[in-house]
Amino acid sequence: ELGKFRHYMQKEIFEQPQALANTLELIAGGGGISPQHFGARAGEVFEGVRRVLVLACGTSYHAGLVARYWIEAIAKLPVTVEIASEYRYRESVPDPDTLVVVISQSGETADTLAALKHAKSLGMARTLAICNVPESAIVRETALRFITRAGPEIGVASTKAFTTQLAAFALLTLALAKINGRLPAADEERHLAALRHLPVAVQKVLELEPEIEKWAQRFAGKEHALFLGRGSHWPIAMEGALKLKEISYIHAEAYAAGELKHGPLALVDKDMPVIAVSPHDQLLEKLKSNLQEVRARGGELYVFADAGSEIPESEGVHILHMPEHYGMLSPVLHVIPLQLLSYHAALVKGTDVDKPRNLAKSVTVE
Ligand code: M6R
Repeated sequence: ELGKFRHYMQKEIFEQPQALANTLELIAGGGGISPQHFGARAGEVFEGVRRVLVLACGTSYHAGLVARYWIEAIAKLPVTVEIASEYRYRESVPDPDTLVVVISQSGETADTLAALKHAKSLGMARTLAICNVPESAIVRETALRFITRAGPEIGVASTKAFTTQLAAFALLTLALAKINGRLPAADEERHLAALRHLPVAVQKVLELEPEIEKWAQRFAGKEHALFLGRGSHWPIAMEGALKLKEISYIHAEAYAAGELKHGPLALVDKDMPVIAVSPHDQLLEKLKSNLQEVRARGGELYVFADAGSEIPESEGVHILHMPEHYGMLSPVLHVIPLQLLSYHAALVKGTDVDKPRNLAKSVTVE
C-alpha cells in the first residue's frame, strides 16, 4: 500500500494535491460558490448568522484559527475559535445566531463531540461539521456537513486532513460572504481561480523536498525550536511546531512574531533554531525586523518565503523560496514544507513516524 513511500505520513503529504482536487471538485470546471456545498438546508441555516464559533482539537483547531482570519476579513463575521475540551467545561454566553462549526478529521474525537453537544444544549442549533469521515459520530449530530475528501489518513500526524480542512474553510468563507452580499462576482472569480490552481501550487511546493531534507539534517540534533508567524500564518507556525513535537520529539513552540520581545526572545541563542513562516504579505516588513532581533542574538534562522518575500540568504539565515505567492490561500502552501521538515527530522532521529509514542490516531476518550 505504501508504494514508493517509506511511511504513511510521507505518502499522505504527497497525496495532498489529489486530496485537495477531490475536496474542491464541487467548484471544478464551472462550479461557483454555493451554500449548497454544505447541505440542502444550508441556505436557511446560514441566513441571519451573526457570528461563527469553531470548536476542535489539535491540528483541526489550527485549521479553525486560520479560518478566523479568512472569515473575519472576507465574510465580515466575528469568529471565535475554541479548544473543544475547554469550551465544553466553560461557562460561556450562547447566541442562537451563531454558526457552530465543529472540525474533526476522524469525526470521533470525544472532546469535540462533547463540545458540539454542549453548544446544542445551550440552544445553538445552527451546526456544521467539517469532517473526513462521512458516517462518524460528529457528522450524525450536526444540521449541516462538509465531507473533506482526503481519503483515509493512517499516520497519527495529520497532514492531508489539515489542508483539505483549510480548503473546506475557504469555501465556507466565500459562501458566508456571498450570503452576506460581500462577494462581488469579480472577487468570486478570483478566489475560484486560486482554489482551482491550489493542487498544482501544492505540487510545486512538494518538489522542494530535497532542500528541506538537507535542513532537517541540521535540525535533528537540536532539543528545541521556535516557530514564528504573523496573521493567518501564526496558526501555521503552531501547526509546524505541533508536527515537530509529535513525531520528532523535539520541543517546539510557536509564537506570533510580534510577541517575541514580550518573552521568548530570552530563549534565543545559537542552540535555538528559529523557523519563520514568511510570506510576501503586508506583515512581511514587521516580520523581517523580528528576524533581525533573532539574528542579533545568534539564533539560526530557517525562513520559508514565497515569491516576492526577498529576504537575502546570509550567515545563519537559510531561506527556502517557494515559487509563487498565494494570497489568501498562502497558509495552505506554507504548511507543506513544515510537514516535510518534521517528517525528515523524525527520519533522521529514527522515531516511529506513523505511530509516535503515547499518541493515538483517534482520541475517543477525554
Ligand atoms: O480527528 P480530529 O481531527 O478530531 O483529531 C484532533 C486531534 O487529535 C488531531 O488533530 C491531533 O492533534 C493530530 N495527531 C495532530 O497531528
